[in-house]
Amino acid sequence: MTDNNAISIHNLVKYYRNRFLALKNISFEVNEGEFFGFLGPNGAGKTTTINILTGLANFNEGTVRVFGHDVMKDYRETRKLIGLVPQEFNFDPYLSIEQILIYEGGYFGIPRKTCRDRARALLNEFGLYEKRNQDYRRLSGGMKRRLLIARALIHEPKILILDEPTAGVDLELRHRLWQFFRDLNARGRTIFLTTHYIEEAERLCSTIGVIHRGQIVAFNEKNRLIREISGHWVVVELRQPLKALSEELTRFGVTLGREGKVLRFQEQAGVTPGVMKEIHRLGLEIARLDVRKATLEDTFIKLTGFKDSFEGDLDSMRMAADEE
Ligand SMILES: Nc1ncnc2c1ncn2[C@@H]1O[C@H](COP(=O)(O)OP(=O)(O)O)[C@@H](O)[C@H]1O
Ligand SMILES: [Mg+2]
Repeated sequence: MTDNNAISIHNLVKYYRNRFLALKNISFEVNEGEFFGFLGPNGAGKTTTINILTGLANFNEGTVRVFGHDVMKDYRETRKLIGLVPQEFNFDPYLSIEQILIYEGGYFGIPRKTCRDRARALLNEFGLYEKRNQDYRRLSGGMKRRLLIARALIHEPKILILDEPTAGVDLELRHRLWQFFRDLNARGRTIFLTTHYIEEAERLCSTIGVIHRGQIVAFNEKNRLIREISGHWVVVELRQPLKALSEELTRFGVTLGREGKVLRFQEQAGVTPGVMKEIHRLGLEIARLDVRKATLEDTFIKLTGFKDSFEGDLDSMRMAADEE
């Protein structure tokens, strides 16, 4: 059985040790060729979902298919269709960098000669060719990341799953990796990216699923998701400053900034007319009015209550930059 969906997950339930409910009945589909962003705070269930997709973890209920093949019944088939870039480095320390790729290819039943050719091409592409005979432990953090990606591609999988591929990576490498992921996607690979960096998903992904505490809380084409959940921001500049927000303005979620001269709120059904009425009632004069689109981050905060951005990772980014 095959179908157009690269990935389809239906009513998936997963308990850890029959006690902790990590995935509470999740369902979604990812189409072939899509750049899908699976977003969620730490501990939401992203890696658990990936482990199930790649056969590394079992589950309690539901069906999980990769190009129509059941991940439990057709494990070998589905595993071949996926290239996995795990969250943590998990290389065999006794192999050289080139051998790491060749062994991985062997695991998928690819002839040794083909493996060697592909390994060299990939190492070249990732700027690791000169290091091919080295021990991976001598690579910088950024190089290890690139090696993880090269290894995931050795069997030419149709789907690439990236589990937080730029966590702790410095900005320059992050931008290079993004470009690389875009190219892979443009050449037809389906990409399943998990991240807690909103900006990463905002820049790369066409479709977004948000997981929070083991539940899918939103799933949509990116711009529709933002529009439907967060709508727009309205910014009202006043001629005279307002000392404090009235009860009514607070109720509409209005915030006051810039010396009391700027009101800001999120447009939703009924909010804008209500705020305008209140502004009028307070006898305030409007100098300027601005409307801007909400961002994915606004939406993420609304859905999960988490504010997450690159800033929280600055220290680890600096460490990675030092290494490189
Ligand atoms: N092997 C495990 N045993 C028990 N609980 C686990 C295990 N792995 C993950 N969990 C728990 O399951 C939840 C989801 O974890 P995970 O899928 O790793 O989240 P994410 O990748 O979104 O950060 C977390 O509460 C985590 O503590
Ligand atoms: Mg994870």
